Amino acid sequence: MNLPKIASISKKIVVALLGLFLVLFVGVHLGINLCLLRGDGGIWYRAASNFMGTNYVVKVFEVVLFATIIVHILLTIALQIQNLKARPQRYHRPQKTKTSFGSKFAIWTGILLLCLLMMHFCHFYFVKTGWVEGKYMIKIEQIVNLKQLLYSKDEPPAIQEKAIEELLKKSQENSLFTEDYEWIANLTASDIEPYKEVLPYFKPDFYNVAKDIFRVPIYAILYIIMFFVLGFHIVHGIPSAFQTLGLNHNKYNAVIQWLAWIYAVIIVVGFSSIPIYFLFF
Ligand code: HEM
Repeated sequence: MNLPKIASISKKIVVALLGLFLVLFVGVHLGINLCLLRGDGGIWYRAASNFMGTNYVVKVFEVVLFATIIVHILLTIALQIQNLKARPQRYHRPQKTKTSFGSKFAIWTGILLLCLLMMHFCHFYFVKTGWVEGKYMIKIEQIVNLKQLLYSKDEPPAIQEKAIEELLKKSQENSLFTEDYEWIANLTASDIEPYKEVLPYFKPDFYNVAKDIFRVPIYAILYIIMFFVLGFHIVHGIPSAFQTLGLNHNKYNAVIQWLAWIYAVIIVVGFSSIPIYFLFF
C-alpha cells in the first residue's frame, strides 16, 4: 500500500471540497454586494449587512469560512511541495503534457488572489474588528445621551463639553436614516475613540466604506484585477474539483467546463460592476 499516495489523494479531495464551498460563498457574497447597486443610498445593503453581522448561524459560518480558507491554502502548499519532491530532477526537455494553462498557473493565481484578499480584508473585514479606520454608524440619540451623561456629573470640564458639542454637530452633519427610520450618525473610528468606553455598540457602515474605496481609481482597478484572477481560478478550479471527486465523465466534461465558465463570467461581471458603478456614477 502506498501511504504517501493515499495521503496526497485525500489532501486533493479536501482541497476540492473546500474549494467548492468557497465557490458557493463567493456567489452568496456577490448576491449581497449587488444590493450596493440599488441606488437607494445603501438601505438594502445595510439591512443585508446587518442581518449577516448579527445572525448567529452566519457567525458560525464565518468561523467555518476562515478555517476553510486557511486549510485550503495550507493543503495546496503541501501538495505543491509534495509534487516538487516527487520530481527532484529537472527535465532536460520541456514536457508536453495535457495540463491546462489554468492548472499550471492555479498556484500563482491562488497566491495573487490571497494577496488581493488581504487588501480586501484591510478595507472591509478589519474595519469591523476595529483594526483599520473606517466609517461607523451610531444612533444620534446615543450621542445626545452621552452628552447628558457627562452634563449630569458635578463639574464637567469645559473642554470635554465642547468636544461632545462638536461630535454632536459632526454627527448631525453626517447623518442618515436607516430602513427602520432610525437617525444614524456616520463617524470615523477616531471620532468615537475618546468615548469608546461609554458609548454602546456601534456598527460599521460598509455602504460608505465601499463608496469611499471604489471612488479611488487605483483601488477600483486592483479590485477588478482581483475579480478577474478569481474568475480564472474558478474556471480552472471547478472542473479540477469535479475530476478529483471522481464526478467527471467524458460525456459531461464539456458541460462542467461550460458551467464553470458561465459561473466565472457572472462572478467577474457582477463584482466588477460595483467599483465601476461607484467610480462613474
Ligand atoms: C465589490 C466587491 C466586494 C465587496 C463590496 C465586498 C464587501 C465585503 C464586506 C463588507 C465584508 C465584511 C462583511 C462582514 O464581515 O460583515 C467582506 C468580507 C469578506 N469578503 Fe468581500 N467583498 C467583495 C468581493 C469579494 C470577493 C471577490 C471575495 C473572494 C475572493 C471576497 C471575500 C471575502 C471574505 C472571505 C470575507 C470575510 C468573511 C465575511 O466576513 O463574510 N469578497 N466583503
